[in-house]
Amino acid sequence: MAEKSFKYIILGGGVSAGYAAKEFASQGVKPGELAVISKEAVAPYERPALSKGYLFPEGAARLPGFHCCVGSGGEKLLPESYKQKGIELILSTEIVKADLAAKSLVSAAGDVFKYETLIIATGSTVLRLTDFGVKGADSKNILYLREIDDADKVVEAIQAKKGGKAVVVGGGYIGLELSAALRINNFDVTMVFPEPWCMPRLFTADIAAFYETYYTNKGVKIIKGTVASGFTAHPNGEVNEVQLKDGRSLEADIVIVGVGAKPLTALFKGQVEEDKGGIKTDAFFKTSVPDVYAVGDVATFPLKMYGDMRRVEHVDHSRKSAEQAVKAIKAAEGGGAVEEYDYLPFFYSRSFDLSWQFYGDNVGDSVLFGDSNPSNPKPRFGAYWVQDGKVVGAFMEGGSGDENKALAKVAKARPAAESLEDLTKQGISFAAKI
Ligand code: FDA
Ligand code: NAD
Repeated sequence: MAEKSFKYIILGGGVSAGYAAKEFASQGVKPGELAVISKEAVAPYERPALSKGYLFPEGAARLPGFHCCVGSGGEKLLPESYKQKGIELILSTEIVKADLAAKSLVSAAGDVFKYETLIIATGSTVLRLTDFGVKGADSKNILYLREIDDADKVVEAIQAKKGGKAVVVGGGYIGLELSAALRINNFDVTMVFPEPWCMPRLFTADIAAFYETYYTNKGVKIIKGTVASGFTAHPNGEVNEVQLKDGRSLEADIVIVGVGAKPLTALFKGQVEEDKGGIKTDAFFKTSVPDVYAVGDVATFPLKMYGDMRRVEHVDHSRKSAEQAVKAIKAAEGGGAVEEYDYLPFFYSRSFDLSWQFYGDNVGDSVLFGDSNPSNPKPRFGAYWVQDGKVVGAFMEGGSGDENKALAKVAKARPAAESLEDLTKQGISFAAKI
């Protein structure tokens, strides 16, 4: 059992870790000062690729093609780049114990890592149907997607069950992106989710109606208002049927489950202040424990624009929060400070030939604009959310680069809206004028 000491440790090897390492490298770290510890076997990569390009039937994305930080047009940090920059990349190493008072981490193999400053970037883990006691949920080919090993299992199952039947449980991000990926791979796909429409976290009924019809036109079957209540398997243990709570059952060669995620904070329970399920931070991602920072999915931080504490499970924030924390750490060392984090929420998704972006807050009344006919070859429509007479959120499917920039501007500026009717009439030109 070894003991190693570092000035800085980034715990986690995902998106935030990659962007934090890039920021450290650009500010300058001495060899041996910084370690990245990850339970994954590969260097930090752009996780969004796993539910998109990684699953293409042809020309699929593979590492090293999508290591951080290519997703934002930054330098690609290959495994050897860490070494060249004097950063120790400690892979396939799960930390099983953290003692924040003693400033030490212990791995599953018993190795001890000491630090002066810790950045917690452990991200999220999937919720599992086995956690809810769903019968047969541990059958083979019932798959989840978070890390690259999970994505490899999905690829393996797609190849083994070519053109078979897939059931996708969940109507959120994973549900929509994986249903499309499986359909593109020629599977007979059925999506099942409990809500009255897909992606209720963000979509209004009107927005969801577009995506549901588009998916249906692509051959995806959608079953709403029920959940998977059990699974049966072949004698070899592979899933063959999904039972639904409403009494129906569906044949399945593969089941993909995307029923949400939870932040990985268990290592630090009782040692650090929490809020809204995440680790509470200030505007510099400092936690309640001195010299301990938390970034990405695990951080509950002050969202300055809204005067509210929020946790955000999206890639743009994981990148920016990591950069902010490192900038704050380095500035403090030089006796300086950085500006408070002033984040504009930004989410996006891509599936089939579709691509949407959302900026701001999806609260208040909403109104649709543009052409949301799913049968049009190039659908292009959007939505605004209006609260207290101001536009606070903006969404667009099929927007151009300039249009998406306009969405960001309008969500940031929060201009007054004359009326919902006027916004519908003006459409994207309302945002373009800001
Ligand atoms: P992230 O999950 O990236 O990294 C956490 C890392 O910590 C992992 O490497 C993990 O193994 C490691 N770790 C955890 N516990 C550990 C321990 N005890 N010891 C050692 N290592 C440990 N967002 C978006 O805006 N647009 C998109 O299109 C997508 N697409 C997308 C697809 C898929 C498949 C997923 C799963 C997620 C997305 N997201 C997304 C969300 C986005 O990827 C997510 O918000 C960021 O990856 C969060 O970055 P973090 O670094 O916080 O966690
Ligand atoms: P999600 O929260 O987006 O969706 C969960 C969905 O699960 C709900 O909408 C609901 O339809 C469904 N659900 C809940 N309980 C269910 C049950 N018992 N049976 C059937 N359905 C049930 O979570 P996700 O799609 O699993 O995504 C996981 C994580 O990955 C999230 O953090 C998400 O932000 C991230 N992610 C983001 C993107 C993106 O931003 N484009 C893409 C993929 C994943």
